[in-house]
Formats: sequence, C-alpha cells, structure tokens
Amino acid sequence: MKPDLVRLLCCPSCADDLTLATPGTVDGQVHEGALVCRGCTASYPIVRGIPRFVESDGYVGSFSYEWNRWNRVQLDVANGRTESEDTFIEKTGLRPEDLRGKLVLDVGCGAGRFLDIASRWGARVVGIDYSFAVEASQTNVGSRDNVDVLQADVFRLPFKPEIFDVIFSIGVLHHTRDTREAFLRLPPLLKNGGTIAVWLYYYTDPVYRAASDFWRAIFSRVPNGLAYAWCWLLVTLFAPLYTSALMKKAPFWHLPRVLPVNTHEDFRWRVLDTFDWWTPRYQDKDCSPTRVLGWFQEAGLRDAEILDYPTAMRARRDDAGQLPVLHDSLPALEGARYVVFGAGAGGEHALRTLEAFGLAAQVVAVCDNAPAKAGTPFHGHTIRPFASLAREDYDFVIIASLPGRAAIARQLNDAGLVERRQFGTVEFIADLALPVTRLLAA
Ligand SMILES: C[S@@+](CC[C@H](N)C(=O)[O-])C[C@H]1O[C@@H](n2cnc3c(N)ncnc32)[C@H](O)[C@@H]1O
Ligand SMILES: [Zn+2]
Repeated sequence: MKPDLVRLLCCPSCADDLTLATPGTVDGQVHEGALVCRGCTASYPIVRGIPRFVESDGYVGSFSYEWNRWNRVQLDVANGRTESEDTFIEKTGLRPEDLRGKLVLDVGCGAGRFLDIASRWGARVVGIDYSFAVEASQTNVGSRDNVDVLQADVFRLPFKPEIFDVIFSIGVLHHTRDTREAFLRLPPLLKNGGTIAVWLYYYTDPVYRAASDFWRAIFSRVPNGLAYAWCWLLVTLFAPLYTSALMKKAPFWHLPRVLPVNTHEDFRWRVLDTFDWWTPRYQDKDCSPTRVLGWFQEAGLRDAEILDYPTAMRARRDDAGQLPVLHDSLPALEGARYVVFGAGAGGEHALRTLEAFGLAAQVVAVCDNAPAKAGTPFHGHTIRPFASLAREDYDFVIIASLPGRAAIARQLNDAGLVERRQFGTVEFIADLALPVTRLLAA
C-alpha cells in the first residue's frame, strides 16, 4: 500500500481513524506493518503490501483458487486483447474521461483486470476483495503509483464516508449472502455527485437456473482441484460440440441449459469461466433491473441508467435531489396503443405478456412481413402488412420475432421510429419498461 492510503481508511469495527505502523517504505510502498485503530486499538496487519481487514477468505475459497490459478488470463496488458476494457465500458458505461484524476473504488477486484484499466485511464484506484485474489491483483497492478489493493469484506468496509468519486462492482455482489444488503453498503462511500455502476446476474430460464444451482450445490463443496479437473474435462469434451453447427438443432441446443460450458476462443478463459459458474457458494441470479432500481431508490440515488440487461446499471448520488430519477425517460406505455410485429410464437408470447400486464385490449394490430400470412386470423386479430398501418393509429411497436429482430428494427428505423421510444422487443417491455414504469408510479 501507499502511505497516503491511510487518510481514506477508518476502522471497520468502530469507524475511528487508523494509524500506520511500519518499519518503513521501499520505493514508496509499505510492504509490512499494521494499521492500528485510534479508538478501539484493533490492529490490521499489512502482509505482502496488502492491508488485511479479514482474517481469512471465509466463503470465497473458490475465488481465491480461481484468481490465483488464472491470475493473468483476463488481464488485457498480459493477453494483448482489449476484451476486459470493452467489457468494462459495456458494463459500467464509464469512459477514460470519467475516471481521469478521480478517486475510484473497485469492489471485488479479483485478479485486478479492471484496476488495470481504471489505473491506465488515470484514476487513483483502490481495489478490495474478500478472497486471496488480492495476491494476484497486488502482483499484477499493486506496484503502480495509482493503485492500492486491500483484503476486505464488502459488509465491513474500512473506508471513511463520502470519499469516492466513482464506485464500480462487476460480477461481485450476487456472490454474497445478500445482494441488496451488500449493494447498500456502497452509496454512503460515494461523494455527492459521484457515480456508482454495478453489473449483476439476471437469468430467467428456470431449467438453466435449476441445473446451475444443482451443480453448484455439489461443486462448491468439493476440493477446488477436483472442481478444476472437472471443468477442464467439461471444456475439453463439450466446448467443441457447443461451437459446432449441430447446436442449432433440437435437442442439442437444450444441452447448454443443463450443462453450461464456456466457449471463449481462448481455452484457459473457457476453463476459468466454466469454473467461475460452477463453484461459487452464493450466486443470486435474480437481479432484475426493477429490483436493482428499487435498491437505487432505497439509497436515494438518482439519474439511474439501465445500460444493459442482464443487469448493468449505474446511478449518481444527488443529495439535493435535483437530477431526474431516470437518466432516460421511458415511453408512456400504460395508455399506449400497441402493434405486435411478428405473427408466430414470438407474437403469441408478446400477446400473453401484454395480457399479464393487463394491456391486451390495447393491441390495435398484429403485423408480419410474410405476404402469405396477410389477411389470416391471429388470436382475435387479422394479420396485416406493416405498411398498411397509419402512423397516427398506434404508439408503440413490439418486435415479437427472434429471428427477424434485426431486420424489423431496421424497417422501423426506416419508417422514422426510434428504438425504446416508439419500438422495442418483448423483453424491453416485459423486463424493463413496464415494471420500471409501475415501480416509479407506485
Ligand atoms: C466473479 S469474481 C469477479 C472479479 C472481478 N470483478 C472481475 O470481473 O474480474 C467475484 C469476486 O467477488 C469477490 N467477493 C465475493 N464476496 C465478497 C465479499 N463479501 N466482499 C468482497 N469481495 C467479495 C470474490 O472474492 C471474487 O473475487
Ligand atoms: Zn476501531
């Protein structure tokens, strides 16, 4: 750690200031010593340059193993890719100009791939992790002037309130015993005006979920070396099949739902991500945008953005409450007149979805691009070509065809409609726009 880190820290037990006790620094780094509380006199050792606020790695032993076995696989500067940087931008919406010169916290830093990015973008960045992944982070990026790594539990963080400009946490909070509670520990550490970004699991396929939880119940209990051997075997046997053309056919495409195996082009990455899915003790797959938005509201955050789902969201601390609750306003959907575009299984699903929200009576037309379907009946409607509709007769078009999704979106764009304002997919409506509208109205 750097000696000046101490001004950011406080005792996780009594919140009093900490004092640095060390025989000295080498190249500006404290390698050994302790942080001693001025209030309760608790002492937190600094071992191999890392302040330790936990005694061991508790329930996250699988992550200690994971990030030390694959300590550089996902690190852009080691593998010559930009994949972690691309992921970081996608999942946080943050750009270099948002981080330059800022004080940033990475919650659950693993082997430090995002510490690498934030520090190369010019932030002063602090990474915490409960597991011994901190050893990997420290080796990878800890010697940089603008990086510090701490071993700490998100439920007992050693930071003073309101100090960070930006907090991000990517793929972490759903691995704790209580995702909401873990999240709510973070906004108090944010400066007024600061940004928080989280990426969390949200999987709705019941088969995929049940199979995953079944396997995890077994593989979170077996020794890590055995789980590793199993994941290696799975990847060797199934990844070639999963990347073959056979997978487009039934019953093959069901197989990854019950036996998930990563198919990244780098073999080590495949085994890492397969292990990462099969072994964690906790894995909350229920973090829908509406649920996360509920936590944002609980924490008084505003300017919320739903960047992607499953679920990447960010928001800002705004103590004066001046910013809007949502960054992008949602289309007015309650009284809208809907067109369902796609008269097949997707169309049926869209009609059922609107029915479930009590909006089925607001469907004014069902369209399809197949000329043979025009004029035929479809669940109480008569299928029409889209071109036959007058713009003033509808408000929102639901794209209800999975294979035709991109083509229909282009067609609607060409007709002058704007995505998420005047058209969107069934998922946009069902998972995001309608539940969020109702949450905010409640
Ligand atoms: C899937 S890894 C993600 C690591 C990193 N964010 C990345 O994407 O490369 C999840 C991390 O969360 C950490 N973690 C789980 N529970 C934690 C807790 N209570 N406090 C701090 N870190 C925790 C694990 O140790 C693990 O390193
Ligand atoms: Zn104390």
